[in-house]
Amino acid sequence: MLVAPSILSADFGNLSSEIKAICDGGCDLVHVDVMDGHFVPNMTIGPVVVSPVAKVATKPLDVHLMVEDNNFFIDLFASLKPEYISFHIESEKHPHRVIQKLRSLNIKPAIVLNPHSTPESIEYLLEDLDMVLLMSVNPGFGGQKFIPSVVEKAKKLKDLINKRNPACLIQVDGGVNDKNIHILKEAGVDVVVAGSYVFGNEDYSKAIKSLQV
Ligand code: DX5
Ligand code: ZN
Repeated sequence: MLVAPSILSADFGNLSSEIKAICDGGCDLVHVDVMDGHFVPNMTIGPVVVSPVAKVATKPLDVHLMVEDNNFFIDLFASLKPEYISFHIESEKHPHRVIQKLRSLNIKPAIVLNPHSTPESIEYLLEDLDMVLLMSVNPGFGGQKFIPSVVEKAKKLKDLINKRNPACLIQVDGGVNDKNIHILKEAGVDVVVAGSYVFGNEDYSKAIKSLQV
């Protein structure tokens, strides 16, 4: 299991040292939650803040857009050369066009499904994706309770992925901790995002390792 700590739960007053600590602690990706105050009822950070602090990151960036205007934010973040940019299917009229744009920028495309969205809704996009992110909370805030139906959804998605594009990864985001990590692993999940669990632990390295099952 790959682990992407969400810096949403980091101490924003010390963001550089927090990013350095999770990278030194052995994380696999650095998850950056971008919220525009429209698609979700919260706002976070743009490249003005992320760019200087990302310089200390020794692990690739995984940018999760929770925004209405995906094209605008992709243009803003492209210069940071993230490994992945994920965007919500619920906010995009032309998802295939956005995927092509990310490919042309050499960024791995990922699509995010809110808790109510079905894996079947993206079946015909799977062959063009590097990752699908399943939300296990309603997007907008860290520290929420894990929604268990994501486990069944991950299994359904895994079946579709095996049929359409076995290389595509499954990521789960929200309420992940050392209690639910094993059931996610069994369901075929490849990457987990964890915010409050990692940053709420005194020893980041220990918390990260407890999820790398
Ligand atoms: C929620 C974000 C998550 C969040 C995860 O909108 O996408 O990445 O920060 O935080 P925890 O792990 O605390 O649920
Ligand atoms: Zn996220």
